Amino acid sequence: MSRQFPDTFSLPLPDDFHLHLRQDEALLRYVPDAAASFGRVIVMPNTTPPIRDEHSLSRYREQIMTAAGDAPWFVPLMTFKIAESHTADAVRRLAESGATAGKLYPQGATTNAEDGVSDIRAAWPVFAAMEAQDLVLCIHGEDPSSFVLDREDAFLPIVDQIASDFPRLRIVLEHITTARAVDLVLRLPDNVAATITVHHLLLTLDAIIGGFLNPHVFCKPVMKRPEDREALARAACSDSPKFFFGSDSAPHPIGAKESSCGCAGVYTAPVAMPLLIDFFERHGTMESLRAFCCERGRRFYRVPPSDYEVTYTREAWTVPATYGDVVPLNAGRAVSWTASRPTIISGG
Ligand code: DOR
Ligand code: ZN
Repeated sequence: MSRQFPDTFSLPLPDDFHLHLRQDEALLRYVPDAAASFGRVIVMPNTTPPIRDEHSLSRYREQIMTAAGDAPWFVPLMTFKIAESHTADAVRRLAESGATAGKLYPQGATTNAEDGVSDIRAAWPVFAAMEAQDLVLCIHGEDPSSFVLDREDAFLPIVDQIASDFPRLRIVLEHITTARAVDLVLRLPDNVAATITVHHLLLTLDAIIGGFLNPHVFCKPVMKRPEDREALARAACSDSPKFFFGSDSAPHPIGAKESSCGCAGVYTAPVAMPLLIDFFERHGTMESLRAFCCERGRRFYRVPPSDYEVTYTREAWTVPATYGDVVPLNAGRAVSWTASRPTIISGG
């Protein structure tokens, strides 16, 4: 195994542009894991009930800040769940209360999306209001009526149409999984970008059903074919500013995963950075690691450079079997990098 990176190096504190933080006790348990690794995080709104208005958004942000405790670098960037019924006034109030983005979930596409948008055309006025407020549109890009492996590609024409009808709307196609999604994002103008997760960079459908069934890596959209994974890897390691890290880290208790109706979601927050460093050491460069985790996303979201940095050391540790009652990615396996607590960049 080639050792391209030094055994110890520092990066600006990475950001996570797609994260699920849950509610109640789960929120208290899992926010600190995210805050140990990331600075700015885009918080998904698929709680029950969902984050739909300025009141729930502000309350949720307060709860997250309380749960983060002593982590002054941790900044939750809030989103709301788009409904066809959102008026321009409701969108303006959300923007004024500090929303960064709105999330489009096609109805039934994933966890807690039963109340998603059923007629996407009917949400066009919401996109117009978001464009006027300079809010980012985050898209779960799957058509739930298609065959499961085709759902992302089946949704791409809708992304194309939204981008063409709203040329000033910043759009993030979330957790992309296919070579065709990479191609579309590259073809569209600079206001369209995509997040890529660590699990979609590392795994294919084989990880879920290629051997014994592994429900802990089952997620939506599901991992695809080796050539899709390779296209994601090339995009992440390229110098395109359009592809950046969003973990989609999504804790579900063991009982909800090891079940006859198991939930979609992979818990990656505690292991994402060690796995990404390892991935970029093998397939990319230090520069592409830094761009993917620390630069491109914050530029797209117009967030300033981090005031914090982290030092990573080549020091193996074994991933715990569980965090609370959640099985993380790579449970029980060794990862090669240890992170320091974030520190303020001196002179910054
Ligand atoms: O696998 C997923 N889990 N995909 C999503 O889109 C939602 C997430 C969750 O909330 O658990
Ligand atoms: Zn998600």
